[in-house]
Amino acid sequence: MSALMLDGKKLAAELIDNLALQVAKRVQQGKSSPALAVILVGSDPASSIYVRNKRHACERAGIHSLMYDLSEVTTQEVLLALISELNRNNAVHGILVQLPLPSHIDSTLVLESIHPHKDVDGFHPYNIGRLAVRLPDMRSCTPYGVMRLLALAHDDLKGKHAVVVGASNHVGRPMGLELLMAGCTVTTCHRFTVDLAAHVARADILIAAAGKPGLVRGEWIKLGATVVDVGINRLEDGRLCGDVAFDVAAERAAWITPVPGGVGPMTVAMLLENTLRAVSKADALLG
Ligand code: GUN
Repeated sequence: MSALMLDGKKLAAELIDNLALQVAKRVQQGKSSPALAVILVGSDPASSIYVRNKRHACERAGIHSLMYDLSEVTTQEVLLALISELNRNNAVHGILVQLPLPSHIDSTLVLESIHPHKDVDGFHPYNIGRLAVRLPDMRSCTPYGVMRLLALAHDDLKGKHAVVVGASNHVGRPMGLELLMAGCTVTTCHRFTVDLAAHVARADILIAAAGKPGLVRGEWIKLGATVVDVGINRLEDGRLCGDVAFDVAAERAAWITPVPGGVGPMTVAMLLENTLRAVSKADALLG
């Protein structure tokens, strides 16, 4: 078998074009353009690239992006004060704090300080909790982007055995909740899991989100499985690779995501969709 590609780059571009139409329609109707505040603390090279990509995507969709480039030594108090001001500003609809934050800042406290209606990353416990009780509002971007990619391959996920490798707050856990809501039987594997290979071998749907290059060996993949690789790892020679050994996995899977060009662009597209959702909610609340 040679797997078909789940082309996140193509789907994300289509979704962003569609968002641009919706934003243009809003503006035509005299409504405000969506505005997203993007806060970057420090100058981590990977974060700077991610933030630049997000800003370019905003431009393509007609979403106004407000950049806050703060120095590495910014105090937690200054950051919390900025978020508090943005929470109160009705002209700002979404707030994103790029992670990781410098170690002197408590990320949990910072993320919880963002108003849940402006939490376009979908990281706030309120939004994760809503997903847990099947009442999603702002959905975490990467897991929701994965669900949209899976829809290209599957009309219905009910009854499928989904295995998520990685149990992070921002990807693995909400990913499991998304798959559960879609009717999958979900197994979440993590650093204490015994016999990862045996779990992976039972997956109709495999989501790898551990951030460890080559952790999932191609021979473990069930024949005909759908494989989504969330990992983006930079090798010593500068190349990017996922958590799944791609070449062998692609011989066994029916569908697979490339790295790069799979999940990454979908995360950005979902961020923009959440920003449009946030402005629509603000319209409804503020009149
Ligand atoms: N750092 C890496 N990925 C993400 C993301 O999706 N959102 C934020 N805020 N930070 C990140």
